[in-house]
Order: sequence, then structure tokens, then C-alpha cells
Amino acid sequence: MSRDHLYPTYAPPEVEFIHGAGVWLTEKSGKKYLDFISGISVNTLGHAHPVLVSALHEQAQKLWHLSNMFEIPGQAELADRYCALTFGERVFFGNSGSEAVELALKSARRFHYKNGNPERVNIIGFDGSFHGRTYAAVNASGNEKYLEGFGPKLPGYIKLAFGDHEALNAAIDDKTAAILIEPVQGEGGLRPVPEACLQGLRKLCDEQGILLIYDEVQCGAGRTGKLFAHQWFEDCAPDIMACAKGVGGGFPLGFTIASARVADTMTPGTHGSTYGGNALAMAVGHACLDYLADDKFMAHINAVSAELEAGLQALVRQKYPSLLEQVRGKGLLVGFKFKKDGANADFRMRALEAGFLVGTAGDNVVRLAPALNVTEGEVRTALGMIDDVLADMDAGA
Ligand SMILES: Cc1ncc(COP(=O)(O)O)c(C=O)c1O
Repeated sequence: MSRDHLYPTYAPPEVEFIHGAGVWLTEKSGKKYLDFISGISVNTLGHAHPVLVSALHEQAQKLWHLSNMFEIPGQAELADRYCALTFGERVFFGNSGSEAVELALKSARRFHYKNGNPERVNIIGFDGSFHGRTYAAVNASGNEKYLEGFGPKLPGYIKLAFGDHEALNAAIDDKTAAILIEPVQGEGGLRPVPEACLQGLRKLCDEQGILLIYDEVQCGAGRTGKLFAHQWFEDCAPDIMACAKGVGGGFPLGFTIASARVADTMTPGTHGSTYGGNALAMAVGHACLDYLADDKFMAHINAVSAELEAGLQALVRQKYPSLLEQVRGKGLLVGFKFKKDGANADFRMRALEAGFLVGTAGDNVVRLAPALNVTEGEVRTALGMIDDVLADMDAGA
């Protein structure tokens, strides 16, 4: 297949998937692949889940799109449901994680502007973080390589070492608007932020009049076994949160959710989106939330992720301690860190060959993010495939 007329921003492997069902994908040749990355933490219920298919199909026969000029079916109701389940009081629907982050940043600055502090514009973020590919999102992200060749860095973004509390205290001043953090750092290497740190951030923000923004684009939507990752802990709710990926289960949907005191400074005309939260996205968003709001579904995620983690721990500690250093992540956003630089990419290519799809993350980590309805049997199959690939690597094959 020629890719000559596509931007060369991606370099996909030579496989062409033509069908998906649950955690399995079928390639043109008929070869089956076990999908343990799910469109990078997106396909909440796997591929072609009948409930999502029929939610989309039913809505598609009624009404697709109206734009933000009119009341969109299902939007106010989906906002009500997410607010009832979180700290949030207002929701803005968009199409992606980057857009959700973008509005989170705009809301933070606008809040201070409307409260008589227009000089409070600085956003503090952390090394290794990833917040998306728009201008604001790459400037807010903690990886310089995403900025190369794109002109001057935007002012107002400060980057600190992950976990450096002293640097954080020193960086805060009367120009600080917000702290932006992923409760479980995804791209940076599946690094969960400890409970005490999230609680400490909340306290610090309250003391200093700063807003706390969580990016739960990757770690939210049930991925860690709670609707949102920060909900594992008390007393650390943010002021603003960016969500996407799993909330749409594969349909492009993201949203920014915030407290009323923040969101209400975004008065008519300050923000908008043509497609954001259209009727199709809302139909699928409701269907996904039916699962994500169900305690039994969360119990399932916690049971399968415990099995996956235990299996990975055994591989890391008992079977391949010479190759592997650590199990990383939380819930079904989990993986393992290699000792040798670049071995994670090598593992990914070998796994692909063996019919097993995984991702990589920073810090030599292999990233697993299967559909949340993955079964214990499928987890065991995955662990067997991981074991086989590692055995080959260990043997120097
Ligand atoms: C934590 C986080 N924030 C934001 C984004 C950007 O989301 P999108 O690619 O939907 O714009 C991503 C994407 O991987 C992400 O992992």
C-alpha cells in the first residue's frame, strides 16, 4: 500500500487490519492479533462491541450533527451524569484529548483574569508528561522533542522534574495560574503519582490560590479501576480535568470538566467547537458511561488487572530479572520496564510478529492497555505471549 500522499508523521508497520472483535484484530492475510493496546487506551469495550455499534447505528438513523448553534441531543444529560460522578459542575465536549487540555489551560487563565489577576498566566508541568499535539499542549508537555522546529516556545509554561517537591515550591510565584499533571503519567513511562503527592498538590494549590488541572485523557475512563484515576484517593480532586480516549470507546470524544467557579468565567463567545459533542458522539458517550458507571464493571477491571499485574510481577522478579527492572502503571494501564535502552521497541516488534499488539512508553517501558472488558482467559493468553517473546530475547534469539 502506498502512503505517498499522507503526511509522513507516522511510520506504521506493514500490517493491514480489516476487522476487529473484542480484543482480537484480523489482518488482511487472515492472521489474528491479540490487541493489548486498544488504539492507545481508547477502545474501552474492545472492537465492534454490539452495544456501542447499536448506540451509534440508532443515532445515525435519527440525527448526526447540528453544531453548537442548537441544543444537541444527549449533551446536557451526559454532562449531568459526569458531574454526578465527579467533582465537576460544568462540562464542555470536544473531539480529542488535546482539545480538552487546550480548554483546561484557557479556563485556568481566564479564571484568574476574571478574578482580577490577569498576571497569573504560568502553567507548571512536569518532565515526561504528554498533553497532546496542539501548540498549547506541546508547550505544556514535558518533552522538548515535540517542540523542535515549531518556532519560539510559547511563554508561560514552566517544566519541573517529576516528583521534585522543592523545585515546585520554589517555582510558585504570583504569576502562577495552575499546575497541570497526569495522575498516572502515560507516555512518560506509566508513572503513577503517589497519593500523598496528589493530596499535597491540592493543599498547595488551595494555599496559593492556584488551580489544579488533571490530565486524565489516558488514565481516566475506568482504565485504573476507578472512573477516574485520582478517585482512588480522598482530598485531591482537581479544579479542572481533561478527559478523552476511553470516554468515547473509539468514537472521537473528549471533554473538559471543571468546577462552576472556574467554568463560569468562560462566558458565551470565549470558546467553541463545530463538531464537539455532536449527537453521534453523545450516543456513544452515554453507552460507554453505562459501563464505566457500573460498580460490577469496575470490579471486573480490578480483578483482571490484579491477575495481569501478578503475572507481570512473576515475569519481572522470577523469570527474567536479567532483562526486566520493574512493573509499571496502574490497573489496565500497566507494563514493564526493560533494563536495556531500546529493548521495549524491540519487544514491541517481536510481539507484533507473534500476533500480539502492545505499545511502548518512555523510560524503556512496554505499555499494555487492553480493552476494559478483557477476560481473565485473554489476560492469561497475553501473559503467555509476553513470556514467549521474553524467552526469545533472553536466549538472544
Ligand atoms: C495524557 C494525555 N493527554 C493528552 C493526549 C492527547 O490526546 P489526543 O491525541 O486525543 O489529542 C494524550 C494522547 O495520548 C494523552 O495520553
